[in-house]
Amino acid sequence: MTGEKRAKHQRPTTRSWAEPFKIKMIEPIKMMTREEREKSIAKSGYNTFLLDSEDVYIDLLTDSGTSAMSDRQWAALMMGDEAYAGSRNFYNMVETIQEYYGYKFVVPTHQGRGAEHILSQSMIKEGDYVPGNMYFTTTKFHQEHAGGKFVDIIIDEAHKATSSCLFKGNVDLEKLDKLVKEVGADKIPYVSLETNVNMAGGQPVSMKNMKELSEYCRKHGIAVMLDATRAIENAYFIKTREEGYADRTIASLLKEICSYTDGATMSAKKDGLVNIGGFLAINDEELFVKAKNMVVVYEGLHTYGGMAGRDMEALAQGIREAVDYDYISYRVKQVQYIGEKLEDWGIPIVTPVGGHAIYLDAKRFLPHIAQKDFPAQRLAAALYVESGVRTMERGIVSAGRNAETGENYHPELELVRLTFPRRVYTQSHCDIIAESVADLYDKRDEIKGLKMVYEPENLRFFQARFELL
Ligand code: F0G
Repeated sequence: MTGEKRAKHQRPTTRSWAEPFKIKMIEPIKMMTREEREKSIAKSGYNTFLLDSEDVYIDLLTDSGTSAMSDRQWAALMMGDEAYAGSRNFYNMVETIQEYYGYKFVVPTHQGRGAEHILSQSMIKEGDYVPGNMYFTTTKFHQEHAGGKFVDIIIDEAHKATSSCLFKGNVDLEKLDKLVKEVGADKIPYVSLETNVNMAGGQPVSMKNMKELSEYCRKHGIAVMLDATRAIENAYFIKTREEGYADRTIASLLKEICSYTDGATMSAKKDGLVNIGGFLAINDEELFVKAKNMVVVYEGLHTYGGMAGRDMEALAQGIREAVDYDYISYRVKQVQYIGEKLEDWGIPIVTPVGGHAIYLDAKRFLPHIAQKDFPAQRLAAALYVESGVRTMERGIVSAGRNAETGENYHPELELVRLTFPRRVYTQSHCDIIAESVADLYDKRDEIKGLKMVYEPENLRFFQARFELL
């Protein structure tokens, strides 16, 4: 063996990690040629949401509804009780949510935004303010649709792409207090608290911060509503980063997180390890009755809310699997593994790396493209052409326009999200992904901006179309 060859296979200083499962069934994927991908992205208006999934090699568009279910979840599907009313799967799901999340009442919904809709309509009045630790697209939409105004109260550090802050998702209590003093607590129906803040890069909130928020809000008679979509991933970060929690189980941390809040909306398509589903969970009975009345209009009867019986059974099983330490540590470590490679290779990403995704910093990746020419949108399209890896823009397109002035928001963060489906891709896929990004980084100077040629009215990032400048 030559010395060079040996260097290629250096023995690592720490033991490698591996997926805590083995493969029982496979789904073939294909790799197209570069020319085919160029055609396909042009046809899709340079919007990765508009690509056909068949034309994608490794799909990192989202971690939402893209998880692989376990053999036990597939077995649970066979236990579906597809009754219109009172399915046993519903009761099993409710008991599981009560056991692991700790809330008293559960309203099932077809997915997260169904729960956001019902919560917003039930609690927000015209002219209210809804402070939150950074916006999420659908969450903010529903808050504003109900007549509220979203106010960002996340710590400043969250808006910086690079930071050494380990809890970039934290709420800035001074910002909240300032708002309370300005508008009065009676204009604030609740604080919208997101765990593992998606738009900040999958960044966790510390237990200490949640506790302090809860104390503040209880003192001022303001509710705290959790977006529990990635609360289990947040629990992992608390266990591994925050002092005093190392010996705790993920399940007990999840329950403690929820105990600082009055209710939660949940997109079960993430932490819940299912392909569809969600719920609204709350402690207040009056609010529960109101939500239950509304769910029958928009989602389905209050004992299925848009989910099939089998989906509810798979979710109950998914929650039990998601709090397993071996699973969740693999989940987060897989993302960290790629993040470390990219950082080592000097590629600009959001740091510290979060729980569900790597975020490329398009402002530093493509510094020659002005934000008005959609650098992150362009970068996502270029990465697809380079490698068949599908990602998503999280920058000026996702931020949309100010509803009152019609002006574009100019978010500080202009990012491309590489989001990891749970239990789907292997470490070899991770290597390919990192190498593809690095290859594109070498060619970054050749990449030019875009112009928007079609802009939908709501949540424009899903369907907007672009042309090359
Ligand atoms: N809240 C958060 C934090 C989310 O990330 C999402 C969805 C939702 C609510 C809405 O849930 O999709 O089930 O209606 N996020 C997906 C994503 C779409 O790709 O980040 P949903």
